[in-house]
Amino acid sequence: MTIAKNLTDPTPRDLLFSLARSVLFELDPERAHDLSLSMMDQPLMQRWLARRYQTRNSMPAQNAVECMGLQFDNRIGLAAGLDKNGDHIDALGALGFGFLEVGTVTPRAQAGNSKPRLFRLSAHGALINRFGFNNKGVDHLVNRVEQRTWRGRLGINIGKNATTSLDDAEADYLHCFEKVAALADYVTINISSPNTQGLRDLQHGERLTSLLHAMKNAQSQLATRHGKHTPLAVKIAPDMNNAELDTFCAAVLESEIETVIIGNTTNSRSPVAEHLYARETGGMSGAPLQTLANDRLSAVAERLQGRTVLIGVGGVNSGTAAVEKRYRGADLVQLYTGLIFHGPALVRDCVRRTA
Ligand code: FNR
Repeated sequence: MTIAKNLTDPTPRDLLFSLARSVLFELDPERAHDLSLSMMDQPLMQRWLARRYQTRNSMPAQNAVECMGLQFDNRIGLAAGLDKNGDHIDALGALGFGFLEVGTVTPRAQAGNSKPRLFRLSAHGALINRFGFNNKGVDHLVNRVEQRTWRGRLGINIGKNATTSLDDAEADYLHCFEKVAALADYVTINISSPNTQGLRDLQHGERLTSLLHAMKNAQSQLATRHGKHTPLAVKIAPDMNNAELDTFCAAVLESEIETVIIGNTTNSRSPVAEHLYARETGGMSGAPLQTLANDRLSAVAERLQGRTVLIGVGGVNSGTAAVEKRYRGADLVQLYTGLIFHGPALVRDCVRRTA
């Protein structure tokens, strides 16, 4: 595996995407997001996207990898949050990803925070969002997942409703897990969104150990019920310090959670402090997150020593950046913001470079 020096290598130019982006970036970011997804949902558009960007047929076997006891077509996945309700699985599956993670979904539908709640920092290749788990509820997502035709690997990311207290959070996670276990290739316990008050407290101490144990117990019961073992991943914030990672990783090893995803968006603004939107509340993603996310990935890898699968997320904006995640210990790599700024050619670039 070769690691190039420059982590911000531009993705190969995709003129059609550049054209579409110049139009979409004139719109409010959330509207551009909704519009792009509804265009991609058109069957003709999906066929065109699959022909143009699909990685599966071009190099099938050489990209395949086994993780969590599952075969993935390639190591590159879509991070959670872009398709919160599983409404666009076939469209996103046409872009060449080896796996998609849908959600975060909560037991009951909720509207999330008021708009505007998504900010584009174009000069930095970054987003700040404070959506707050706007979603249509787990039953809607289950329905959509059942209707999908795309057959790549699917992770389902679960959370708690905003109105559920931290003391009752476990019940929300268990409820969602029970609903999705039979359908998901893996399930992610999201305890790291900065946009649900108090959620990140679940990353620590007794709340963490209790939640992880409850989920592992449910996992074995659900495996008996469905005749299928559904691996669990836990997604953490890149804002955790070394001491916090010491206790977190010890809890992961003790509870035998299969996978750690590092990580979610950051509260930090240091690389974009001068930007007009730097003071907006929410989590920052994209290029300025890359250094922090990579550093925390190494810190987690050092503590887990290959005993747990690692998914590296945060600031992937080139094939080189995806390779860097691998170099730091990630078995699989996810991206979100890079797709908004660089388009689907980024997926193909990352797949090729991590083969
Ligand atoms: C996210 N992310 C996210 N993560 C999650 O676990 N559940 C969610 O609902 C969301 N929602 C969400 C919305 C928006 C608009 C963004 C930009 C991000 C976090 C995402 O999955 C990922 O962890 C971070 O964005 C870092 O990766 P990138 O974007 O730098 O590749």
